[in-house]
Amino acid sequence: MHRKLERRKDFSGRPAGGDVAEIGLIDSALVRLGVSRDCLLEVMLDIRDKRGSVTEAGLLHLAGRLRLNVAEVYEVATSYPAVNYGSTESYRTEADSCGDLVCALLRDVTNSQSYARPGVCRGRCDRASRGDSGRVFDEFRAAGGYSIVEQLRQEPLLKDRILQDIGRGHAVGRAGNFFPVGRKWQSTIAASGKPVVIVNANEGELATFKDRYILESDPHGVLEAALVAALVIGANQIFVYLRDDYVHLHTVLRRAIDDVVASGLADGRQIDLRRSGGAYICGEETALIASLEGRPPRPRERPPYPTEHGYHNRPTLVHNVETFYRLRGIWGAAFEPTVPVTGLLAPDAALFSVSGRVRQPGPKLVHGLPTLAALIDEAGGICDGDELGGIVIGGAAGTIVSAELCHASLQDLLASGLRLGTGSAIVFNRNDDTGWIAARMAGFLARESCGQCSPCRVGTTKMARALSDGSLDNAALDDLSVAMSEASICGLGRSAGKFLARVIHTAPERQR
Ligand SMILES: Cc1cc2nc3c(=O)[nH]c(=O)nc-3n(C[C@H](O)[C@H](O)[C@H](O)COP(=O)(O)O)c2cc1C
Ligand code: SF4
Repeated sequence: MHRKLERRKDFSGRPAGGDVAEIGLIDSALVRLGVSRDCLLEVMLDIRDKRGSVTEAGLLHLAGRLRLNVAEVYEVATSYPAVNYGSTESYRTEADSCGDLVCALLRDVTNSQSYARPGVCRGRCDRASRGDSGRVFDEFRAAGGYSIVEQLRQEPLLKDRILQDIGRGHAVGRAGNFFPVGRKWQSTIAASGKPVVIVNANEGELATFKDRYILESDPHGVLEAALVAALVIGANQIFVYLRDDYVHLHTVLRRAIDDVVASGLADGRQIDLRRSGGAYICGEETALIASLEGRPPRPRERPPYPTEHGYHNRPTLVHNVETFYRLRGIWGAAFEPTVPVTGLLAPDAALFSVSGRVRQPGPKLVHGLPTLAALIDEAGGICDGDELGGIVIGGAAGTIVSAELCHASLQDLLASGLRLGTGSAIVFNRNDDTGWIAARMAGFLARESCGQCSPCRVGTTKMARALSDGSLDNAALDDLSVAMSEASICGLGRSAGKFLARVIHTAPERQR
């Protein structure tokens, strides 16, 4: 538990016992980022980078400078794991291994004892090296990049054509729900107020690293699409909300944004790079917006949707990194010269994050996948000596697909309700215990629940315990599943309920 925070009697802008160096760092961060509540999280992360975490005296100083209630500042500090408030251990951001499902599954194989901290998947399930060999600004420009931005600035009527292309191309969101992109854009345009564009690069889903791969390879592809979106919907501000653990990408994106701004292509539009607070829930769009406003990352009921009332009540367009990137494939053909269309931009291409017991885990781009088992071939085959046990598809609240069904037609599985979600695919073998896997998935959801609503807070905790120790019978689990699915505020609790229903109904051995 954190100690109680008290305002000192002699507090007068500088707390008693305050560390002069920390106060200096806070003040210079505020000068750089602006003296506004919006930058609260970013200032705290800045101090964490330099000193391990912000201190109590630092929080008091921040509250004074931002004219906020101390309790509010304390609440923000304690709701983001990445702020590391009150911890005596340093917060490791980039790490090759964590304590979550994939790393735990492979621990006996890799014999890795390196844990960033228990739990919370770090999106490193492919153990990939973090090169910064992505396409830089000059290369992207030389290949025709940003010419669409220039054309749009000269011929504003082209935006109607882009909207038509998006509708005709049936572009859908890639964050997991496959919501039509065109509908979001139209709704943002129809709403009153100055719109905002947000690139959601939080990528907190279990065993998912596709957005990291896209940003590592072609950051300007994403920024170009975000700028086009801003021009089409009339936004003057763009946020890139980046997963805090992706430290190397912070540098890559900082440079990419600086290059775009320096070139004049942003045309006065503000492009802000912000880091998330180290929790899965930070990627839920209303929680993300709360985080950008300097509040704790708590989702809110919808409607109103962010497209109508988002960042500071302005119409806000939030898309996943992959969604933005792929839009270039849709309008690319209509604008010349264009950056060569890569495989990823082909409409039938699906991007999976494949991890677990395969020889070559990593991002895999596939066209017309016949079966889920075929994904294993894309990943170099199953590890030596292993026999396929099945694949967890779609993240922490995803589906545990048996080996037999992995060989069934994927089209049939999709038709019968399988959801691919973010495209995360964790391969396990015959000896891996699916009960243990389900319990780890439930553990992730329980740990990452923001705790705001009881169906999710209590439900995910009970579910995780019951799937570990069998403490509830199927009737009680069924009730829990219905309560979570129907009464939770956001998608985390609702999808946790649906996950539990699948576990109960596809695991006959659980039935008593
Ligand atoms: C618990 C939770 C976590 C989420 N995390 C992310 C995330 O990390 N990245 C993301 O793009 N979308 C995430 N989403 C979905 C966003 O709320 C939002 O729907 C998405 O950014 C829209 O992108 P799209 O239109 O491109 O699909 C999350 C949703 C929930 C319920
Ligand atoms: S469903 Fe869970 S994560 Fe979502 S608001 Fe409720 S407690 Fe928070």
